[in-house]
Amino acid sequence: MKILVAFFSASGITKEVAQTIAGVANADIFEIAPQTPYSKADLDWTNETSRTTLESKDKASRPKIAKNIDVSGYDAILIGFPIWWYSAPHIINSFLESQDFGGKIIVPFCTSGGSDLSGAPKDMQKKRAKCGV
Ligand SMILES: Cc1cc2nc3c(=O)[nH]c(=O)nc-3n(C[C@H](O)[C@H](O)[C@H](O)COP(=O)(O)O)c2cc1C
Repeated sequence: MKILVAFFSASGITKEVAQTIAGVANADIFEIAPQTPYSKADLDWTNETSRTTLESKDKASRPKIAKNIDVSGYDAILIGFPIWWYSAPHIINSFLESQDFGGKIIVPFCTSGGSDLSGAPKDMQKKRAKCGV
């Protein structure tokens, strides 16, 4: 089975977890990097007008990915992200909508300040249904 660990990480915590998982699973690893990196000010969830607050509130926001990967050769894709506002950052939607994930095993994982995955798998499932998985 060919496995890919694809992750988004704004401050490095999810990246460490992704690297550990990729090592254990003998998987390829890919960073879902935003075209415009998130600054410290962007990540301020206490500011109602910060980039992340505005993106999280806007269901239609799809931050651009700097460079994408072709997932067609993989059987399973583990997708890692930090929990933002109790769900996955919208760049994960950008990734899920970027290509065909049909027939692939998708395994989400996350890091957070304390919240669990809560709405993220359900939201991703809706997205995957849209992607034909
Ligand atoms: C914009 C923003 C929103 C966040 N929302 C939550 C949240 O709802 N629940 C939570 O437990 N942690 C929340 N966090 C904390 C991150 O999930 C946590 O620090 C994560 O491990 C960061 O991963 P990273 O270093 O890979 O970006 C939030 C962080 C940011 C920047």
